[in-house]
Amino acid sequence: MEAPTPRSRDMTARWLFLFLLGVAGSAVLQVHGQADSLGFISIDCGLPGKTGYIDSTTKLSYATDAGFTNTGTNHNISAEYVTPTTGKIWRSVRSFPDGLRNCYTLRSLVPGLKYLIRALFKHGNYDGRLNRWPIFDIHIGVNYWQTVNITDGDMPVIAEIITVISGDSVQVCLVNTGSGTPFISSLELRPLKNKLYPQSDMSQALVLATRANVGASANLRYPDDPHDRIWISLNVPSWMAISTTKEVQNSVIDFFEVPSTVTQTGVTSINSSTPIIFFWDVTSAKDSMPGYVFMLYMAELQHLPSNALRQFYVKLNDKPWDTKPRGLKYLETTVLYNEKPDYASQQYIFSLEATTNSTLPPILNALEIFSVVPTTGLATTTHEISAMTTIRDMYQMKKNWMGDPCAPKNFAWNGLHCGYAVSRPPTITGLNLSSSGLSGNISSSFASLKGLQYLGFVR
Ligand SMILES: *[C@@H]1O[C@H](CO)[C@@H](O)[C@H](O)[C@H]1NC(C)=O
Ligand SMILES: *[C@@H]1O[C@H](CO)[C@@H](O)[C@H](O)[C@H]1NC(C)=O
Ligand SMILES: *[C@@H]1O[C@H](CO)[C@@H](O)[C@H](O)[C@H]1NC(C)=O
Ligand SMILES: *[C@@H]1O[C@H](CO)[C@@H](O)[C@H](O)[C@H]1NC(C)=O
Ligand SMILES: *[C@@H]1O[C@H](CO)[C@@H](O)[C@H](O)[C@H]1NC(C)=O
Ligand SMILES: *[C@@H]1O[C@H](CO)[C@@H](O)[C@H](O)[C@H]1NC(C)=O
Repeated sequence: MEAPTPRSRDMTARWLFLFLLGVAGSAVLQVHGQADSLGFISIDCGLPGKTGYIDSTTKLSYATDAGFTNTGTNHNISAEYVTPTTGKIWRSVRSFPDGLRNCYTLRSLVPGLKYLIRALFKHGNYDGRLNRWPIFDIHIGVNYWQTVNITDGDMPVIAEIITVISGDSVQVCLVNTGSGTPFISSLELRPLKNKLYPQSDMSQALVLATRANVGASANLRYPDDPHDRIWISLNVPSWMAISTTKEVQNSVIDFFEVPSTVTQTGVTSINSSTPIIFFWDVTSAKDSMPGYVFMLYMAELQHLPSNALRQFYVKLNDKPWDTKPRGLKYLETTVLYNEKPDYASQQYIFSLEATTNSTLPPILNALEIFSVVPTTGLATTTHEISAMTTIRDMYQMKKNWMGDPCAPKNFAWNGLHCGYAVSRPPTITGLNLSSSGLSGNISSSFASLKGLQYLGFVR
């Protein structure tokens, strides 16, 4: 533990020591009723005022970002990027020209529960600087989530993470990496059951690369998917779309709860001697070779005569991915997935190939691809964060005091000294407010900072 020592112990130098404050901390995070009856939090970032609205397509209730963040500025996207079909969430953004890290705090969560958290970005030339698209990072709590690379004013970027939240709140932070001003259009949180997506646990999260509703004519989300995953329709000219109006069941042990409306459509290849082939190229700014997990959803949608057989191998990079040839059940989804992330390759080429006995081509109904990110970065303890938040709000300290006070280390708040020990949360050991021109009463929250060894003020 590092413990910086004050330069002067002379009270005329206006150092105040914590032991003078014999009062118990009373800092409590203000808890708002942020979630709706489904436990969903939906924020339309950059919307002015405090009044939200009901989204016309999902019928979900969107809030303004008042109460979720206290930095940044509101903007409308440029008129040339607005058409009558442009959804309301895309029309405004909040941008963060100041500070390295700016955060949204999502509260009233269930500690230990798994959540899907989604950030949406559509630039729309909101700043009137055409063709200057930013690149920035987003963090989930104290952990890197992904790099947001805006390459176009119109094309929305969707960042989604499936992660276990250990506390009763989580921060989503936008981090300026020196390549333009971070901004955000919308932020959404959806609770999941902990059994879903078993590859996501306390130590790693799943970052969405792609989620395809294969053979579908339109994208789907809530209410078709009760978990409000966004399934993007995927059609390839050489694939033949097939569909059913009948309900498609999931198996009894179901880790993914794919909706029937997604698996009711699918594709086959043109004939049984032609495989279904698709590939995924690895692109990552932070990690040259992240691990990947894949879910392939397949269901038989045709009632086959007894002399017909649909049977196929699933191969990844020319090696069998599945142990045996696949036969499918009528109107029941089979999910093929890897439990452990695959680090094998820069390119993942999947091939669904009919066996020699098969009279029918392979079938594919949906797929998901995720990269894996570690979530092992340790946050400052909750009571220290609460105390610091209260101190910040009381003294109206805004500059750089966003996100976790001590973590990650290179983002620690200005004027704060933190102690870092292996596999223990960082602790606040010193607070130097000398440069802040503080005035007013001494917050009792200072007493909550148990590791605090000095405290400095100038009046
Ligand atoms: C506290 O901050 C002031 C102003 O930035 C600086 O001069 C001083 O050295 C700092 N004290 C400690 C103990 O870090
Ligand atoms: C965005 O547009 C709305 C209505 O069109 C207006 O009320 C609001 O003030 C605008 N916001 C900004 C930041 O210009
Ligand atoms: C951002 O996207 C562009 C266009 O695809 C690419 O050339 C560039 O390398 C990307 N940058 C980062 C940091 O990912
Ligand atoms: C299957 O389709 C391919 C590509 O269209 C074609 O070359 C091949 O002859 C077809 N095979 C059969 C058995 O119809
Ligand atoms: C193909 O059919 C033959 C004859 O019924 C059978 O012996 C063989 O095991 C089958 N192959 C596969 C891969 O199922
Ligand atoms: C300081 O505390 C006293 C007593 O609690 C209160 O009357 C006064 O308004 C406070 N002053 C400020 C600036 O908060």
